[in-house]
Amino acid sequence: MNSYVGKKYHVVTYGCQMNVHESEKIRGILHSLGMEEIDNPETADVVVFNTCCIREGAEDRAYNNVMALKKVKEKNPSKVIVVCGCMPQQKNGKYDLKKRLPFVDIIIGTHNINALAQYLIELSKTKERVYDIIEKPIATMDPDYCIRDDKTNAYVNIIYGCNKFCTYCIVPYVRGREMSRTPEEIYKEVKDLVQNHGYKYITLLGQNVNSYGKDLKEKTSFSELLKNLCKIEGDFKIKFMTSHPMDFGDDLIKVMKEEHKVAKALHLPVQSGSSRILQRMNRHYDIKHYMSIIKKIKRAVPNIALSTDIIVGFPGETEKDFNQTMKLIKKVKYDQVFAFMYSKRTGTPAATFEDQVDEDIKNIRVNKLLRLQKIIQKEQLKKFIKKRFDCLIKHINGVAVGVTDGGREIYIPNYKYNNENYFTKVKVEDIRNHKLSGVIDE
Ligand code: SAH
Ligand code: SF4
Ligand code: F3S
Repeated sequence: MNSYVGKKYHVVTYGCQMNVHESEKIRGILHSLGMEEIDNPETADVVVFNTCCIREGAEDRAYNNVMALKKVKEKNPSKVIVVCGCMPQQKNGKYDLKKRLPFVDIIIGTHNINALAQYLIELSKTKERVYDIIEKPIATMDPDYCIRDDKTNAYVNIIYGCNKFCTYCIVPYVRGREMSRTPEEIYKEVKDLVQNHGYKYITLLGQNVNSYGKDLKEKTSFSELLKNLCKIEGDFKIKFMTSHPMDFGDDLIKVMKEEHKVAKALHLPVQSGSSRILQRMNRHYDIKHYMSIIKKIKRAVPNIALSTDIIVGFPGETEKDFNQTMKLIKKVKYDQVFAFMYSKRTGTPAATFEDQVDEDIKNIRVNKLLRLQKIIQKEQLKKFIKKRFDCLIKHINGVAVGVTDGGREIYIPNYKYNNENYFTKVKVEDIRNHKLSGVIDE
């Protein structure tokens, strides 16, 4: 028996869905040691911070929250604190974690989280602090460990790492090169989640899902993978993120159109509306190409829910470049826009570009963009009227609600439900206080 049996743990997660899913695996590892989860990091025996370094703000938040436990650790030296994920993996990051967090017991990166149980056992025997950052994965994390929080949507990794090297981005440096899981492994996991655990949405994860399969011995493609997964029997749908516009082919558009089980939602980060900036970002596409995908997908899948990521204030971004981004969001009419101010990441090419944009200008631009998107989103609501959507039926505060693939809620006030968590068609009838309402329309 190990010394952790019966002890309590708490996991704090920062960053993307990938990290959220990795934390589900971390929870599984801690459970396998006989531990139980609790909500309070102050009273937990083991606290794990699964960190992110995509922008400076994410790092500051994680660092400050780890620091907040310093006093508790001083009072209770047997408490174990672990810092893992992208922040420790980063070379020459803002914080020298080894030096600045001497009270943290275990600091590991992204490539050895799956060995967390061994590190914890080692620590309990030797009482010696562990600092171990390795350059390549020892093995990918075993999904069998996973303890998922969400009972409707399950994350499934299909590809790890990134080969794209966008000039602003730290991810390729902290997550390593692209590494696809085999189609068989993914199929088995999805089938189990749908047929044995009742999941309604499966979200396939990768920094760039469109690269899926290119690195495998038996080459395959993302659209092939999707087609195969759609053969699994059951009432479920598949989402995926993130897609890169460069590799987004017509084969994928065809699958999204033809396969009922592929959700009618697409997150397609554009990053900027200026082709000049896109080139400096090393994105490998221009606005003409991006807009041609948008046009094709809107034609193939009417009422698709579109979302995007945008970086404002990338080095060299002029008012003219920024206005092109504003123009783009007016034209596309996304359901959702995630806008970020450019944040310098040490070790990435853009951090050394000389024409950095002032913070206050970034701030003004991001707010302008978000204000515009808010107006567009409100106007967009009108387009829902009289349209039918395949929705997942849920009960929210005693009322039946249909949730679209894009996450929009349609209230169904007169519906006498006796069941939930199934897909059916809902027709939108009315908008009141920015809320949609409708009727079942099978
Ligand atoms: N792999 C995904 C996204 C990864 S990071 C893709 O290629 O789209 C999520 C988002 O964070 C990015 O889409 C980008 O908009 C933003 N981001 C990445 N690096 C950033 C930086 N240095 N500063 C500001 N935003 C950044
Ligand atoms: Fe970062 Fe670009 Fe890779 Fe996305 S595709 S993770 S933005 S380097
Ligand atoms: Fe952050 Fe790492 Fe994801 S840097 S966005 S947690 S891959």
